[in-house]
Amino acid sequence: MRNVYLDNNATTPIHPEVQEAIKEALPIYGNASSHHSFGQEARERVEDARVKLARLINADPSEIIFTSCGSESNNLVLKGVTCEYVPCKPKDAPGGRHIVTSQIEHPSVKNTANCLEQRGFKITWLPVDPRGLVDPEDLKKAITRQTVLVTVMLGNNEIGTIEPIQELCAIAREHGVFFHTDAVQALGKVQVDVKELEVDFLSLSGHKLYAPKGIGALYMKKGRMICPLFHGGHQEGGLRVGTENTLGIIALGKAAEVARRDMGQEAPRIWALREKLRQGIEKLIPDVRFNGHPEKVLPGTLNVSFLYVEGESILLRLSGKGIAVSTGSACSSGSLEPSHVLLALGLIHEEAHGSIRFSLGRENTEQDVDYVLEVLPGVIADLRKMSPLSRARAG
Ligand SMILES: Cc1ncc(COP(=O)(O)O)c(C=O)c1O
Repeated sequence: MRNVYLDNNATTPIHPEVQEAIKEALPIYGNASSHHSFGQEARERVEDARVKLARLINADPSEIIFTSCGSESNNLVLKGVTCEYVPCKPKDAPGGRHIVTSQIEHPSVKNTANCLEQRGFKITWLPVDPRGLVDPEDLKKAITRQTVLVTVMLGNNEIGTIEPIQELCAIAREHGVFFHTDAVQALGKVQVDVKELEVDFLSLSGHKLYAPKGIGALYMKKGRMICPLFHGGHQEGGLRVGTENTLGIIALGKAAEVARRDMGQEAPRIWALREKLRQGIEKLIPDVRFNGHPEKVLPGTLNVSFLYVEGESILLRLSGKGIAVSTGSACSSGSLEPSHVLLALGLIHEEAHGSIRFSLGRENTEQDVDYVLEVLPGVIADLRKMSPLSRARAG
């Protein structure tokens, strides 16, 4: 049986060149903070990786903080900015206890904002249109004298919609409010240029970029400050303490270098595969709805609602045929609640429940898409035969 991995938004396989870089770096065990030659060897490699990652997003290396994952970077910004800038302010001073975000953020932003809300912050959840776009006019209306931070993701993990970050950030800047974007899904798939976007903070994750799990990063513009989540030594300027994950950092640096080199060819190739899959589904399967923006979308993300069937049943049937997909974000796939992202688009529960996310990556080929198009129509037709909703509709 063919194995087809179409869950690259959940995590990516480690790139062979990254694997090589890890193997080569395995003997490096010095602590990057030690001043002897063992430590200095590790330090040089950490700094080399910082330069490579900075190049990918057009940042200065000094603006990169290595973390353990994208979730940590998001937590660090939301909790770190509010903890740094808010407590000493008089109650009604500008830049206070108000955060603006969107209704379709990853749980690591959404739940952190919920946590801050329970601690007295006011959160404004910007709505999105049926394609998943935040309207800059809504942001203009939402910002008040109390707003300290706006956080809107760059590319959505479930539907792939790419938000107008440059425009949103300009609005925040006009009001003197910090702007953060979660670029975990966008990195390596579309251009992420912090100078163009003019964001203050930007979150990244290694395992969505063909590096291993357990390594992430935060871009923090020069001059910004943040209160760390953990306290301890002086690593990462005291902002992310704990002995550096040298291997993970080297791997992320390599992955960034490879992404910078290959993105120009890979992004259009993956987009073409996605289009082939989308057109095939449209042609072969009735009663489908494509979720997300038709053009402003990450090249490998395709989210489809198959009406009258359960996404979980589709996932299991496809898995039995060697095809790996997702019913939403991996983080919420254990939950029976319909995806908050799809509900924010205006889908009714039944449509949201029948949705599947196909996320393509660098290892996918035309043959993979052909195989999915060979298997999927039969799976959907079979499940619809058993579905009371589908039978009721057929009368
Ligand atoms: C948009 C987005 N942000 C943040 C994260 C969290 O990243 P990590 O798994 O590295 O914690 C994910 C992971 O799925 C994501 O898709």
